[in-house]
Amino acid sequence: MRYSKKDLKIRVDYNNMMASVIGRSQGITETELDSISSEISKAYNFVAAGSGIGMMGWTKLATGQDDVVEDILATAKQIRRNFEYFVVLGIGGSALGPIAAFKAINHLHYNDLKKSKRKGPKFYVEDNVDPERMAALLDVIEPEKTMFNVVTKSGSTSETMTQYLIINDILVKALGDKARDHIIATTSKSKGNLIKIAAREGYKTFYIPDGVGGRFSELCPVGLLPAAVLGIDIKGLLQGAAFMQEQCESAFVKRNPALMTAALMYLAMTKHGKNISVMMPYADGLQFVADWYAQLWAESLGKNKTLSGHACNVGQTPVKALGVTDQHSQVQLYTEGPFDKVITFLAVDKYRCEVAIPEGCKDIPDVNFLSGHTMNELIKAEQLATEYAVTKAGKLNYTINLPELNEFTLGQLLMLFMMETAYCGALLGIDAFNQPGVEEGKNATYALLGRRGYEDKKAELDNAPKKQNRFII
Ligand code: PA5
Repeated sequence: MRYSKKDLKIRVDYNNMMASVIGRSQGITETELDSISSEISKAYNFVAAGSGIGMMGWTKLATGQDDVVEDILATAKQIRRNFEYFVVLGIGGSALGPIAAFKAINHLHYNDLKKSKRKGPKFYVEDNVDPERMAALLDVIEPEKTMFNVVTKSGSTSETMTQYLIINDILVKALGDKARDHIIATTSKSKGNLIKIAAREGYKTFYIPDGVGGRFSELCPVGLLPAAVLGIDIKGLLQGAAFMQEQCESAFVKRNPALMTAALMYLAMTKHGKNISVMMPYADGLQFVADWYAQLWAESLGKNKTLSGHACNVGQTPVKALGVTDQHSQVQLYTEGPFDKVITFLAVDKYRCEVAIPEGCKDIPDVNFLSGHTMNELIKAEQLATEYAVTKAGKLNYTINLPELNEFTLGQLLMLFMMETAYCGALLGIDAFNQPGVEEGKNATYALLGRRGYEDKKAELDNAPKKQNRFII
């Protein structure tokens, strides 16, 4: 499908971050932005120089995967023809992207639609090890009609491998040798256990490139295979991402949306005490993009040392909100609470349908004023009104406008956030692409469950301070 760059370019409106609009007490001045121009240039150059290298392999995904994309499309076609259910087994970066794209592009009640109305199999992402959730999944799918996509870059994450063991056991008991036709592995080509298992069992396998970390992996087979199975135009998604990358080629901060938002967020967090980043889409379809962003922002920027080894403890706590729902939950705090956050509104100009509010309650003007409008007008008015209210209260915010929500704009949005994260990491001088804090928890889990090679970690845990009963009531 062809998408118009002119009509579908997403726009970043950062007026309400600036002192000249929101006031000097909270806002960022143009002088302040100018004063970090050399840091901004350095961050730009750092990201440009690192592009495609090391853990920045994700910058090459938008344009460099033609063969992989064809393989994914052919595989997806077979799955759509032969399976009633498609289940992703994965967690963190191996799950949040597929969920975000599914919710953004597919029908909001996709799984409840009749088969003839759905574009593909029913879709589930199992990104937890709550036993009740696994049991519930098994209550609604039929394993012999299901394709399972086991997704783990490291090939050893306990949660994902647990799910694999359970599902494989069920499949083998039900289908014998044919079990292998119900599992696709998406994993690293060069390391981990899943690749070994996949080779031994003969699973169809897609590879996660070495330079693509979990939270930057939506545009590789991790996200593209589930998306293609769901009928999402993955070429459009990649085209959107490439279009955003074109804009991020500019070294001029006022022309590079990701560099600008990174610079503003960097100033907000380091000089203005804004330790919280609220992501508030005004579209149910974007609710899970906020989840995906939360992992990207938290895991990438939450670090305790700089690249040169100095202690730092930086980062911003991401908070997910949904407009208008959370106007009736969190916005009171945003408006009147502490000056500790930046709110990012995600606005959609043209929703995929229009719902009119019919005439009614003529005798009650306070209800009847709604008649004659549309829900589209209402949600738009509420977004503008909330933006106005928080701005009036001096709370920093900016708005990303999507002309429509489709594959091309979603691709732009995901790439905008990934580039912003890379620039912000560079400004903070930290490694935005590792996650030692996550690894610590993973290793402790291995030790607690007796994995070989983790005996020292087990001893460390055994020697950790014990909980005291007097503090438990
Ligand atoms: O962003 C990351 O690297 C992590 O959140 C991982 O995606 C997550 O821990 C799952 O790891 P894996 O894909 O190796 O199973």
